[in-house]
Amino acid sequence: MSYNAKFPQTRLRRLRYNGTVRKMVTETSLQLSDLVMPLFVCPGDNVANPINSMPGNFQLSVDNLVKECKEIHGKGIKAVLLFGIPDYKDDDGTVACQENGIVQRAIRAIKEELSDLMIIADVCNCEYTKHGHCGPIVDGDVDNDKTLTILARQSVSLAQAGADMIAPSDMMDGRVGVIRKALDENGFYKIPIMSYAAKYASGFYGPFREAAGSAPQFGDRSSYQMNPANTNEALREISLDIEEGADIVMVKPALSYLDVICRVKDTFKMPVAAYNVSGEFSMVKAAGAQGWIDEKRVMMEIITSIKRAGADIIITYHAKDIADILKNA
Ligand code: PBG
Repeated sequence: MSYNAKFPQTRLRRLRYNGTVRKMVTETSLQLSDLVMPLFVCPGDNVANPINSMPGNFQLSVDNLVKECKEIHGKGIKAVLLFGIPDYKDDDGTVACQENGIVQRAIRAIKEELSDLMIIADVCNCEYTKHGHCGPIVDGDVDNDKTLTILARQSVSLAQAGADMIAPSDMMDGRVGVIRKALDENGFYKIPIMSYAAKYASGFYGPFREAAGSAPQFGDRSSYQMNPANTNEALREISLDIEEGADIVMVKPALSYLDVICRVKDTFKMPVAAYNVSGEFSMVKAAGAQGWIDEKRVMMEIITSIKRAGADIIITYHAKDIADILKNA
């Protein structure tokens, strides 16, 4: 194929005049099976606390969470990602490993009603520690290796409750290998790991921290999450996670990191997930509510760009709105 043919023989607009032709030559299309909807589960009965900074999202008690999952499932979305808000927090996050923990209960309740809805369990300690960091603190910083033991226990406990996939989001060194070993030793060799492999220390997580009550009480996460300026380091992170047994690798956030998604896909040819995070979602909602942008149109443009960059799986709070658009397309 030549890119050098000259005008007037070559007119790229020929394929743009007619709507059907435009559809025929569309290179990237979103599908329902690309989407994962994140959800927040909290203690209590009939609770639906609106998350102010994320319009349309709620902290839901288990009963309401099951209802929400039915609606999501009814729209054709195949997977949810669960985050827990526990009734109490501790110093090291072991509260996340309890058989009757909030996410464990949620998984069992969802599975009872919707056995084919894929449940991905986020694995991290920051929602479960009093200080809001992703593991126990030693000498003022998260202790990497102590955190690994807790993450492995949490993963096994979530698999025992019925999680279909485990998604570690903590960014400790060595966690994927340790979690893989623990899952295998407990008979969960069929459960895939989707690792938050290139996760940046990002300002875009702001609204999530309100949603999950997980803002660090001192300092920030830059001693474990990545510097937004780096991409070679992302490739090193991804390649280590693959060696340790990650089945799917994630880039997070998505929109400011499309170059990273693209490099990761080109380099590793692995299934790639991208997390369209809370701040990315809330910016679109806020500008849409002001009438400054066409919210639905911008939403579709952003999510399509994430897929175009190379993501196979897109985790997004827009999932329900996208499903409505895809159904009517
Ligand atoms: C937990 C975790 C975070 C997100 C997903 N898992 C927050 C963080 O690292 O502080 C952010 C998701 C979002 O912003 O939507 N480690």
